[in-house]
Amino acid sequence: MEYQYLIVERRERVGLIQLNRPKQLNALCDALVDEMVAALDDFEADDGIGAIVITGSEKAFAAGADITAMKDFSHMDAYRGDYITRNWERVKTCRKPVVAAVAGYALGGGCELAMMCDFILAADSAQFGQPEIKLGTLPGAGGTQRLPRAVGKAKAMEMCLTGRLMNAEEAERAGLVARVVPAASLLEEALATAARIASFSLPVVMMIKEAVNRSFESSLQEGLLFERRSFHASFGLEDQKEGMAAFSEKRPPEFRHR
Ligand code: HXC
Repeated sequence: MEYQYLIVERRERVGLIQLNRPKQLNALCDALVDEMVAALDDFEADDGIGAIVITGSEKAFAAGADITAMKDFSHMDAYRGDYITRNWERVKTCRKPVVAAVAGYALGGGCELAMMCDFILAADSAQFGQPEIKLGTLPGAGGTQRLPRAVGKAKAMEMCLTGRLMNAEEAERAGLVARVVPAASLLEEALATAARIASFSLPVVMMIKEAVNRSFESSLQEGLLFERRSFHASFGLEDQKEGMAAFSEKRPPEFRHR
């Protein structure tokens, strides 16, 4: 497939999706999100891919939804069109891990996109924010819901109500990002992290992703039961036999289902 707004590559077992709308700082439009969904569909269906990285440019992961495109929307345009969010949850429903590698601005929809990924690796240049209040509107792609879950109510409320940005260091301290790395090595680190994930047993990787996500969608008791049953199910996998045999035989495992 030809992409207009993305650069899509395979780096061995990692699928790399780079947002590529540089003049608009990767502002998100429907066509870009459609392409991202198509790339995710391809990578999910591809047995040769075990993990996915979504990244932007040095200056911006994404500066939000495209303000120029939506500024004259009527209520009905917004409601019927469901701008950038109609197929947005595909990032979350992707069964293979999706890592956000964020440098520069991740604002509005950009911050929301990063938060929808499984975890965020940030360059020291990263800046996160939900500045919609400055535009006379509010986050519409998950910001008021995912940010409090990531950083707690106080910081989320303050950020959404003031539109202030959070730098990488604060974002790491607050738990929004998994790790901060020098900007120059962000992509390399993200690809290495994704490659490490992709080296493990894919069914196990998928089960872990599903179980961790379950913790946000269910009671503790339900989540624990889901985890326990998935753990039990892993004993039906050849890769579990291989992983534990390799440990006993003091050799590296060779997972077959990757
Ligand atoms: C459209 C955008 C844009 C956006 C930047 N640009 N952000 N275009 N939509 N969200 C464009 C600018 O208009 C400009 O185009 C070019 O990108 C470079 O931006 P500058 O402002 O000149 O760069 P700089 O001075 O470095 O400032 C960077 C910035 C600023 C701080 C990121 O651009 C900014 O504040 N952008 C808007 C951020 C924002 O409010 N995001 C939330 C959007 S609402 P020209 O043609 O002038 O060169 C949202 C809701 C999500 O995301 C919910 C969806 C359902």
